[in-house]
Amino acid sequence: MAAGLTLLSLSLSLIFSSALAAAPYCLPGDSCFPSAKELSSFNTTVGGRLVKSVPYGAVCYAGATYDAEKCATLVANFVTDEFRLEISDALMYTNWEVTEDGTGCPVPQDITLTPVNGTCSYGNLASYIVEVASTQDIVNSVKFVAKHNLRFRIKNTGHDYAGRSSGAGSFTIRTHHLQGTSFIPAFVPDGCKATPEPALMAEAGVSVHGLYAAADGFNRTTIGGIGRTVGALGGYILGGGTGIFSHRNGLGVDNVLQFEVVTADGKLRTVNRCQNSDLFWALRGGGGTFGVTTRAWLKSHPPLKATNAVTGTLVSNSTETWDSVVRTFVDQLPALFEKGITGEWIASYPYLVCAPYNPQFMLTHALLQGHHFPATFRAGRDARFSRRLPLYFRHAYLHPGSDQRSQR
Ligand SMILES: Cc1cc2nc3c(=O)[nH]c(=O)nc-3n(C[C@H](O)[C@H](O)[C@H](O)COP(=O)(O)OP(=O)(O)OC[C@H]3O[C@@H](n4cnc5c(N)ncnc54)[C@H](O)[C@@H]3O)c2cc1C
Ligand SMILES: *[C@@H]1O[C@H](CO)[C@@H](O)[C@H](O)[C@H]1NC(C)=O
Ligand SMILES: *[C@@H]1O[C@H](CO)[C@@H](O)[C@H](O)[C@H]1NC(C)=O
Ligand SMILES: *[C@@H]1O[C@H](CO)[C@@H](O)[C@H](O)[C@H]1NC(C)=O
Ligand SMILES: *[C@@H]1O[C@H](CO)[C@@H](O)[C@H](O)[C@H]1NC(C)=O
Repeated sequence: MAAGLTLLSLSLSLIFSSALAAAPYCLPGDSCFPSAKELSSFNTTVGGRLVKSVPYGAVCYAGATYDAEKCATLVANFVTDEFRLEISDALMYTNWEVTEDGTGCPVPQDITLTPVNGTCSYGNLASYIVEVASTQDIVNSVKFVAKHNLRFRIKNTGHDYAGRSSGAGSFTIRTHHLQGTSFIPAFVPDGCKATPEPALMAEAGVSVHGLYAAADGFNRTTIGGIGRTVGALGGYILGGGTGIFSHRNGLGVDNVLQFEVVTADGKLRTVNRCQNSDLFWALRGGGGTFGVTTRAWLKSHPPLKATNAVTGTLVSNSTETWDSVVRTFVDQLPALFEKGITGEWIASYPYLVCAPYNPQFMLTHALLQGHHFPATFRAGRDARFSRRLPLYFRHAYLHPGSDQRSQR
């Protein structure tokens, strides 16, 4: 009893003191936050690409920001990744857009609930966004952020499951516009003595889909995951990066020959196994907090001659049969891999689903020159099981016409 009480008062005092303590960063409204004049002169160093953000949901709130047409478009496209990707301050998962107590500017998923007669506030959304268009914009932003001790965020696509690409009062750089790719037939990492190899260069904003498509355009294949709009060069590669061809081409990080990185001191660094090799090690799986990666040079792989895709949903009528279906399937996987068969699958009672993502996407862009032989079978009815699945797969399995809105 006494011990419990001590613990309770200890945790209360911890909560109390952290609530009273000043934020470790200068946030908008704080006296230490850069003045309008300082912001304006910074703005000129980034080509006028500094934006004082307005929460995107404001168009659905009664008052000066209300815009019936824009609100209708927003509500209609709310769960479409491609649509959200183009909204500077939107994240893919709206839970990260509000603070822990639910404050923010949530958008109702039913048009009849608009205009909202409530308060739209930033919540967990960025206050300022630099729509960076070059490495130099990133260098200048990082220096400014460091000088003024701002709460810095790097947003690429906003897909992060842990919400790391947003933050209340944050000063964000958005890498989405950095879409360049090129093919270097004989690449040697700077400062290394190595056998030249064909490499792909991609800028920080390139998506998984974009990287596949670029490689395809150069008659090569590459690494990548299953979500089209996930960034290939941001959270994906910095966190490891798995994909359906990982057993053939390795993880994302196995394919990096060189990074270009802006570190917290505002310096632009070339990072490979011959220079800044400690940083090279850290960036390949460390998660992305060691600097802002601006470009990466990746291995490229020869195209496959042909592929065949199968999608299917098996529905079991008891937990016993489901159990045995999944066991049998998992037991087969090593043998399937040996034969070069690979893919994505989801097991969630009563279903076993193979290739829940659009196989055509994976085939056309991942791989492939040559012939496609898509074959589809369906055992049982089409699955509408999204709510039972963990977030990762729930997002993946949106059917046109299904009850999508309740799933986000
Ligand atoms: C539908 C879907 C499918 C997925 N499929 C796969 C898969 O097949 N394989 C797999 O491995 N993962 C997969 N993921 C997970 C995905 O890789 C992570 O969610 C990843 O964090 C997304 O990175 P992002 O750059 O797109 O998103 P963001 O939210 O913009 O960024 C993610 C994190 O990376 C940081 N970051 C972004 N850009 C940079 C940069 N240039 N420099 C430094 N830090 C940066 C951000 O600050 C943030 O912390 C999938 C996710 C989704 C939503
Ligand atoms: C930055 O400059 C551009 C171009 O002049 C302007 O449109 C934008 O509003 C400025 N940003 C801020 C925060 O003042
Ligand atoms: C908000 O208030 C206005 C004016 O009273 C009203 O027309 C509108 O329908 C209200 N919105 C909602 C969603 O109830
Ligand atoms: C693509 O590359 C493959 C082998 O790497 C080659 O056989 C094929 O001719 C190339 N196709 C084109 C259009 O260059
Ligand atoms: C499931 O289907 C099989 C084959 O039709 C049948 O034998 C079995 O009784 C069914 N089990 C249940 C629980 O319905």
